[in-house]
Amino acid sequence: MMPINLGVFVSGRGTNLQSIIDACEAGKIDATVAVVISDQADAYGLERARKHNTPAIYTPVGKNNTPEYDEADRKQLEILREHQVDLVCLAGYMRRVGPAVLSAYSESILNIHPALLPSFPGTHGQEDAANYGVRVSGCTVHFAWPKFDTGPIIIQAAVPVLPGDDGDSLTARILRQEHKIYPQAIQWFAQGRLQIEGRCVKVKDAPPPTITEAIISPGLDL
Ligand code: GRF
Repeated sequence: MMPINLGVFVSGRGTNLQSIIDACEAGKIDATVAVVISDQADAYGLERARKHNTPAIYTPVGKNNTPEYDEADRKQLEILREHQVDLVCLAGYMRRVGPAVLSAYSESILNIHPALLPSFPGTHGQEDAANYGVRVSGCTVHFAWPKFDTGPIIIQAAVPVLPGDDGDSLTARILRQEHKIYPQAIQWFAQGRLQIEGRCVKVKDAPPPTITEAIISPGLDL
């Protein structure tokens, strides 16, 4: 199968980007990271890309609804086209994707969120879940819609919240699952196995869940 070209957007350390690069290089997914774009000049994700000889481009974005923001949106679209990107992957990108990219890549932008959407949207999903006192949280890969953290859900992984967890320990547990489900969602996209129906996604020939009954957290005494 011809690999699809990915354009990955990052704002920070880029561990999800790394898991995607590793899956591509190991031949686990039919994709290549064609370009990495960041709104932060010093994002470690850009460095990770360069280490793999992948073009890594800083696009200053400025404040929302300013000429600089619109310019960045146009510039990012130009970069994606130049690198023949088929699928945009938001991987810890802390800004809103602009309207030009959103409309050119409608149904071809994925995002990963560190909570079980629609619970705990926003920028502090793990801390919000830990502080709320939920017993189960997790992560979600979904198609990006203009409104943050709302698009059709492709795959979720649930993890228990353990006694004594704080935002950091929960973040680490969730992150390990992020690194598994994001490459998987990309592969399903590359294989043409994802079909959006309203706000639901059908995954063609999806394997059964890894746990077929339930995660009960804490466990049962009875
Ligand atoms: C991840 O927790 C992701 O779910 C969220 O931002 C974080 C990015 O982490 N959207 P990294 O940069 O991939 O390490």
